[in-house]
Amino acid sequence: MIIAIDGPAAAGKGTLARRLADRFRLAFLDTGRLYRAVGVKLARSGLDVSDVETAVALASEVTAADLDDQELKSEAAANAASRVAAMPEVRAALVDFQRAFASNPPGGAMGAVLDGRDIGTVICPDADVKLFVTARIEVRARRRVKELRERGLEAIYDRVLHEMKERDARDSERHVSPLVPAEDSFVIDTSDLDVTAALVAAVKYVSSRKLSG
Ligand code: C5P
Repeated sequence: MIIAIDGPAAAGKGTLARRLADRFRLAFLDTGRLYRAVGVKLARSGLDVSDVETAVALASEVTAADLDDQELKSEAAANAASRVAAMPEVRAALVDFQRAFASNPPGGAMGAVLDGRDIGTVICPDADVKLFVTARIEVRARRRVKELRERGLEAIYDRVLHEMKERDARDSERHVSPLVPAEDSFVIDTSDLDVTAALVAAVKYVSSRKLSG
C-alpha cells in the first residue's frame, strides 16, 4: 500500500505521515529531506543556491545516510530546499530515489508513506491513498514558531510568517510540480484539529480505501 501525503509547510503532514506509517506498519519517507540535503550541501560548498549544474550533481548522489543530517531541520535548510526544488533538473534527479523507496520499501515493509509536495500528483500518481494536509497560514506560522522555540532557537512570529508566505508562493507558483492537491486527494484541514483528531480522520479514510480496494 502506498500512501501519498502532500501539503504546505507546518500543516502537520510529517507527524500524520509518521503516525500512519506506524499504524499500518509501512515504511516512511519525508521527501522534503531530499531537497533539504541538496540545498544544505550546495550552501556548504560555498556555491550559490542558483547553481543548477552543481545542484543536479548533488541531487543524483543523495543517499539515505544524507537524510539524517541534523542541519536539515533548520529554516535556512528549508529555504535553500525550496530554491533547489524549483529546478526541474533537480526534481528529475530525485524521482528515482523516491519511486524506488515506494516500490521497494526498506525493512521488508508491505508499503510506504511518502510525504512532500508532489507525491500524489507526480511521484506516485497511482498511490492507493492520497491525502492533502493543509491549515491556515497563521496557524502554520504559529506552530513553526513553537517548534523552533522548543528546539531552543529564536523565532519571531512576523518573520516566520513572512518566510512561510514566500516559501508557499515559491512552491505553489513554480512551473514544475507545483504544490497543488491531486484531484483524487482527500483534504484534511488541521487548522482546528489536534494531532489525534487529524490521525482519526486520516485512519478512517485510509481504512475506507483499503476496504473498497
Ligand atoms: O517538507 P519540507 O518543509 O521539508 O520541504 C522543504 C522544501 O522542499 C519545500 O518548501 C519544497 O520547496 C521542497 N519540496 C518539494 N517537493 C517535495 C518535498 C519538498 O518541492 N516532495
